[in-house]
Order: sequence, then structure tokens, then C-alpha cells
Amino acid sequence: MEGPVVAGRTPHAAGHFVPVITGRLLHAAAHFFLRANSRAFALLPANALGAPALLPYGKFLNSMVRRFSARTQNSSTFFLRNRAELELIRDLGRRHPQGATVKLLVLGCSNGAEVYSILWALRSIRPDLRVLTHAVDISKEVLERAQRAAYPADDPNLFERMTPAEKDAIFDSISGEYLIKPWLRSGIVWIVGDASDRELPNRMGMHDMVIANRFLCHMNPPEAEGCLRNIARFVHPDGFLFVSGIDIDVRARVATDLNWTPVADRLEEIHDGDKSLRDYWPWGYWTIEPIDKRRAEWRMRYAAVFQLHCHARRAGADSTLDSGSDL
Ligand SMILES: C[S@@+](CC[C@H](N)C(=O)[O-])C[C@H]1O[C@@H](n2cnc3c(N)ncnc32)[C@H](O)[C@@H]1O
Repeated sequence: MEGPVVAGRTPHAAGHFVPVITGRLLHAAAHFFLRANSRAFALLPANALGAPALLPYGKFLNSMVRRFSARTQNSSTFFLRNRAELELIRDLGRRHPQGATVKLLVLGCSNGAEVYSILWALRSIRPDLRVLTHAVDISKEVLERAQRAAYPADDPNLFERMTPAEKDAIFDSISGEYLIKPWLRSGIVWIVGDASDRELPNRMGMHDMVIANRFLCHMNPPEAEGCLRNIARFVHPDGFLFVSGIDIDVRARVATDLNWTPVADRLEEIHDGDKSLRDYWPWGYWTIEPIDKRRAEWRMRYAAVFQLHCHARRAGADSTLDSGSDL
């Protein structure tokens, strides 16, 4: 049935304009409301919204931020970004037999800082392992930077989480640039690719460790969910998936649906280990809420590392590296 004709417009155009105007008004009201809240809470101590009494309100604010913010990809990253993640990667590395081959895949690898950080973490404690590394990014330009492995020494962010000793271990300093040392550069295959591409797992095969950190948050939730389900196809049976920097509702839904096993080791340290994700909560769409242990399924919700096809899994159980299934 046709609707009324409004001010000389066709019924079709009127039907289009009403939701557009309502949508804009809703956006403006939401931004006004959020700005007023952020000003008010700036007057309180930094973590006030994480306190148990205010946590539900903080979550409500963050759900509004996520609902009304446009997502944009970026390539910002840090060396040694989340130390707890790197420690867990070391723990997994230690479990392999002498001289074993480990297949590592880093998706959304940006300029290579994450890849070199992981290889430093693994190779410095287990030089005997053969780490076959694939690194994928959708941007050809950032991948070329990654392959070049040379970073301006005066970059304001890249090195801020490193100690001087760690810089000495990872870089040679030459003419105002930090160059990745040859023992960390070797054996990496760099690939321009889209982690959402259904063909990519067929072409690249399965890996023991898949790292998909801090790019899914920059997609709209339905797109992130489709991408995460695709990423699971890169993970070897009993392999491990690292996935932080994602809308945690999306992650928990996929993990529950696909019956993934959350890894309990270092779970809380990893959740809190990247201040870019935690410090600004609830005001950025990429930020993550504080762990709320009152939730029955809190490990499934807050784990950033999963074992995907853990045959030993009992219903509701978590995996720990001591009691979980073998590599
Ligand atoms: C914010 S950076 C994160 C870099 C690194 N993973 C980290 O955690 O520091 C996001 C990177 O993901 C890449 N990216 C975005 N969408 C992607 C996709 N669908 N497939 C592969 N890479 C993607 C971007 O080009 C960018 O370099």
C-alpha cells in the first residue's frame, strides 16, 4: 500500500527521508548524551566506572559508543604490545619437543612490530624450534614496511613499551633507524591478503598458532563475526587462536557457538595487558570492559586465547597448559 505524498515528494522518497532524519537525530542525541557523560565522569577518579556499583552503567555507555561509532581501520601498533600474550606464546613454545616445527600465522600484522615481537619471544627462549611464519595484512603498503624491517628511531609510539635492553636485543641502530636483527627477520613469508577471504585458509593451510589481534574491533560486528569464523579455519586441530582487540560480545558468541575452549593461563593478565584497549574504556568502540567475575561464563567472555578443537574438553571446562590437551 502506498503512503501519503509529503510536500511534493514521491511516497518512495518520503519513506526514505523519514528514517534518515530520525537516524541523524538519534545520532546527535547519542553523541550529546555520551559527551555529557564523559565530561561528568572526567571529574571522578580514573577507574570509577569500573567499580562494581557503576560497572553496569559503564557497560551501557560502552554499548552506546559501539552502537553509534563508525568503524575505521588503522595500522597503529607497538613492539612488545601485550607482554602477557608474549609470555603465553613462550609457554606454548616450551611445550614443543626439541627441534620441532611450529607453524605460526599472524593476521592483520601491520608494519611487522607484532610479528618480530613474537619471533623474539619464541626464538630467544627456544632457538632450536623451526618457526615457519606467515604474516598477512590487507594493506600492501604496510606489508612493504614490515618487510623492510626498518623503523624511524624517533617514532613516538612504536618503542614506548620496550626497555633499552630489549631494544638492543631486537634492533641494530643505524643512521637514525632501528633495523630488525637478521636472526629475527629470517623465515617469514609476507602475504597481502584479507582474513575474511574464504579461499585464504584453503590456500594457506592450518597453523599451530594463529594470531588475529586488534583489527576485528575496527569492523562492524556482523563483518567481524564472519571474519572470526573464517579465521578459525586457519587453526590446526588442537592449535591455539589468539584474538584480542575485538568486540567481546562477538568473540564470546562465536567461541560459545563453535565450542572453543578458553585458555585459563594468564587470562586476566592478557585481558589487562594492553593499555590501549583498557585505559580509555568505555569511551572508545575498541575498548574492553573490566573483567566481571560475577558472570557465570566469565572465562569464555574474557579469554583472548582459545584452543579450538580440544578433544579433551569436558562441557564447560577451561584449558590450562598443565591440564589441557597436548600440543
Ligand atoms: C591496528 S593494526 C593491528 C596490528 C597488530 N595486529 C597489533 O595488534 O598491534 C590493524 C591491521 O590490520 C589490518 N587489517 C585490517 N583488516 C584486515 C583484514 N580483513 N585482513 C587482514 N588484515 C587486515 C590493517 O591493514 C592494519 O595493518
